[in-house]
Amino acid sequence: MALPSSLNRYLLLMAQEHLEFRLPVSSPAHRKLMERSIFELWGHGKSPEELYRSLKKFPVEKMVPFLHADSTYKIKIHTFNKTLTQEEKVKRIDALEFLPFEGKVNLKEPQHIFSILEDYGLDPNCIPENPHNIYFGRWIADGQRELIESYSVKKRHFIGNTSMDAGLSFIMANHGKVKENDIVFDPFVGTGGLLIASAHFGAYVCGTDIDYNTVHGLGKASRKNQKWRGPDENIRANLRQYGLEKYYLDVLVSDASKPSWRKGAYFDAIITDPPYGIRESTRRTGSQKEMPKGIEKCPESHVPVSLNYHLSDMFFDLLNFAAETLVLGGRLVYWLPVYTPEYTEEMVPWHPCLELISNCEQKLSSHTSRRLITMEKVKKFENQDQYSHLLSDRFLQYQGHNSFREKYFSGVTKRIAKEEKSTQE
Ligand SMILES: C[S@@+](CC[C@H](N)C(=O)[O-])C[C@H]1O[C@@H](n2cnc3c(N)ncnc32)[C@H](O)[C@@H]1O
Repeated sequence: MALPSSLNRYLLLMAQEHLEFRLPVSSPAHRKLMERSIFELWGHGKSPEELYRSLKKFPVEKMVPFLHADSTYKIKIHTFNKTLTQEEKVKRIDALEFLPFEGKVNLKEPQHIFSILEDYGLDPNCIPENPHNIYFGRWIADGQRELIESYSVKKRHFIGNTSMDAGLSFIMANHGKVKENDIVFDPFVGTGGLLIASAHFGAYVCGTDIDYNTVHGLGKASRKNQKWRGPDENIRANLRQYGLEKYYLDVLVSDASKPSWRKGAYFDAIITDPPYGIRESTRRTGSQKEMPKGIEKCPESHVPVSLNYHLSDMFFDLLNFAAETLVLGGRLVYWLPVYTPEYTEEMVPWHPCLELISNCEQKLSSHTSRRLITMEKVKKFENQDQYSHLLSDRFLQYQGHNSFREKYFSGVTKRIAKEEKSTQE
């Protein structure tokens, strides 16, 4: 499933409600980032006449509670990809006089709002004379799209090269079903973009990152015209910027391949964006001559160097860690980079304690994407679960993506892009 555009989503909801309207209880409007508004659909057509016929079929008993003599109302017009004159708008409203409106018009504080939505497609260079679709519905609630703007990375105090976009962070928190008083963890925390969205929904947040400078807000700044990070550029300051500091537990410098957590299930959600090796390296701690098991304890003076962290190992570790530390019913939400010419659903990493809930695609280029994977813990972790999924074919298949970085930058990739470009011309 691809993430739909906001326009599609706007209309999609109305189309879905064509069957029967029910406000989804599991995702109330105050969590809806993708939808602009929710309506009860009363009619739909490809032309005004078709719309009116459809409206006449809508059961009157469902209309009457909102149109009776003691009520007040207002009719609004929304157009997509076209602007109407005031005269055209009034004409459309007048044409609805066959509906049994008995209440009074109140433009300032109406009890009920009705909307006509006209869809003129998505291409601003090719606006049709007549709309492709017309909908009429009763407004129920607005979504929360303004959150994307108010949490925009552009205005954020502390950012890095890979800070997660605000809209996607909220979508991830929604997939993680994050709620008040949850504990949410990000093992690849970076500048904490994902913690912010979870804290907005009232969860206590914490994270780890292998990079000392990121965790401590030191080193080179990612913003243009700024050389070094300022004294208060860190994750805590970001949460403070949004009035969410009370939800900040802490962040630690730690390697996700060697989690330093006590055994137990204590996270309600693990929401993360692991590195793909494109804009940041995939590293883990370890010595060049990887020490044999059993003598891993380093002397205190030892400063570990880093080794390449294969993507397949990283996702294997992540799923295992989630299976062990999530509470039952808790969710793991993460991005999986894929090389699209080779991708199949069987490649999505698997674990006996985790059930796949959703798998959505975000295209990165013509030949690469990342997939937003959501899994839920459905079984208590037992020691034998630790390696059982390694025996599965899926693990072997994802190993093909270890060379994601090489494929991303490879001649093969450039050739595909070139070929695609020439076929489009
Ligand atoms: C894609 S970024 C995460 C960005 C983050 N979501 C944000 O909003 O800033 C991945 C992060 O993983 C960190 N990382 C790489 N290897 C790691 C490891 N082995 N253990 C923990 N963190 C690691 C990198 O330092 C980087 O900050």
